[in-house]
Amino acid sequence: MQISIFGVGYVGVVSGACLANVGHKVIGVDVIPEKVEMLKAGQSPVVEPDLDRMVADGVKSGRLDATTDAREAVLRSDVSFVSVGTPSGADGAPSLAAAQSVVAAIGEAIRKKSAPHTVVMRSTVPPGTAESLFVPMLEETSGRHHGDGLKYYANPEFMREGSAVRDFASPAFTLVGAPAGDDAGLMRELYSSVTAPFHVCDYRIAESVKYLSNAYHALKLAFANEAGAILAAWGVNAPDAFEIFCEDRQLNISPAYLRPGFAFGGSCLPKDVRGLLSLARTRQVSAPLIHQILPSNETIIERAYAAIAEHGRQRISLFGLAFKEGTDDLRESPFVMLAERLLGKGFDVRIFDRSVEMARLMGKNRLYIEAEIPHLGRLLAASPADALRDSRVVVIGHIGKRDLPDLLAGLTDQRVIDLVGLPQLRGRNGISYQGICW
Ligand SMILES: NC(=O)c1ccc[n+]([C@@H]2O[C@H](COP(=O)([O-])OP(=O)(O)OC[C@H]3O[C@@H](n4cnc5c(N)ncnc54)[C@H](O)[C@@H]3O)[C@@H](O)[C@H]2O)c1
Repeated sequence: MQISIFGVGYVGVVSGACLANVGHKVIGVDVIPEKVEMLKAGQSPVVEPDLDRMVADGVKSGRLDATTDAREAVLRSDVSFVSVGTPSGADGAPSLAAAQSVVAAIGEAIRKKSAPHTVVMRSTVPPGTAESLFVPMLEETSGRHHGDGLKYYANPEFMREGSAVRDFASPAFTLVGAPAGDDAGLMRELYSSVTAPFHVCDYRIAESVKYLSNAYHALKLAFANEAGAILAAWGVNAPDAFEIFCEDRQLNISPAYLRPGFAFGGSCLPKDVRGLLSLARTRQVSAPLIHQILPSNETIIERAYAAIAEHGRQRISLFGLAFKEGTDDLRESPFVMLAERLLGKGFDVRIFDRSVEMARLMGKNRLYIEAEIPHLGRLLAASPADALRDSRVVVIGHIGKRDLPDLLAGLTDQRVIDLVGLPQLRGRNGISYQGICW
């Protein structure tokens, strides 16, 4: 394929050299003439292992060239990659100025050609940018309609400087944001030399995953650094502790606990976060990130309360009271906190949680309920139907398999606020469904 690459910085040069290396014909474009001259002379304008040799090979083979002329580059290619910088602006939002100027220049150049042209956004841009900014901009400047001789894909880059060539050749996955119904065939062909899962998703998801990844990497680093400092202050060999910690691929380094949804609770997580914080306090170790974990969790309970309260003071049925399904453990349950918040604000609440109800009747957890939450114990319903009676708003915290059919059968035209993501509820006829973050 003939590819033009706008912005020959770290991402642009690595992509250009790697694509030329597997047989594509690439022309790099930059506003800095010195970078263009270096590329034309077979030298990489950025320092990366293996890149000098690949750039030299690409130029020598005639598959890698460069120019400052955007129009020439578009006319000489079928696909334009955009990999210009999107640095933070004064308010923290990424500046799209360079990307906007490139997209406009590409669109204007497309107007001058008759062949189809595809634009691929490799720079990191916020979710919504394709639909609200770049696709309309391309349509306006090129005079074409998207899908008719013009295509736009969001294809964030996940390489890391220092190992960029290796990362380009074997990423965790190739991610392409595309419009509905487009399976991104051209992008599959373009990356046919890359052996990694190929995901096509909507534009917004592709644009988001890059932010998720980098924010999560930063979070991991900040956590490791803070926790490491706390451990060291207590004479613990932190790297050794972390090495063992990372060996747990079931819970620690895994998708566990990475499903967005409702707040956490229970007898261990909040208690041990407080325990770690007390270790930090005793040895005067600053740990602002860890300090914010429990306040962050409380905002989720507040968000759920706000989602319920916005429907007015209607009768509420809450499914789930223990901190998770299948246990009667009510200690630090976020559902207890949510129920108390609702009661405190004068809502009429009925609660169904089979495990807690059984514990109440059979005495296992009866003392706890009578001593700690008698006001909630009284609200427990014996069955889903009982909980649903006369309620207008149904809040799903959790529900066991055994009771799910009764819950579904009892739903008529209520507002259902789903805190857990029950697949049986989404798209269900009759109810008015609302997820907590979906
Ligand atoms: N650096 C990384 O490791 C990395 C990894 C993944 C994604 N990203 C993202 O990719 C994008 C590019 O990052 P980078 O580190 O390669 O940036 P960079 O600053 O190294 O390179 C950007 C290049 O774009 C050029 N440029 C600016 N305006 C231009 C224009 N109008 N026309 C042509 N060229 C123009 C600049 O001169 C520069 O050479 C950013 O959105 C970044 O967040 C970076």
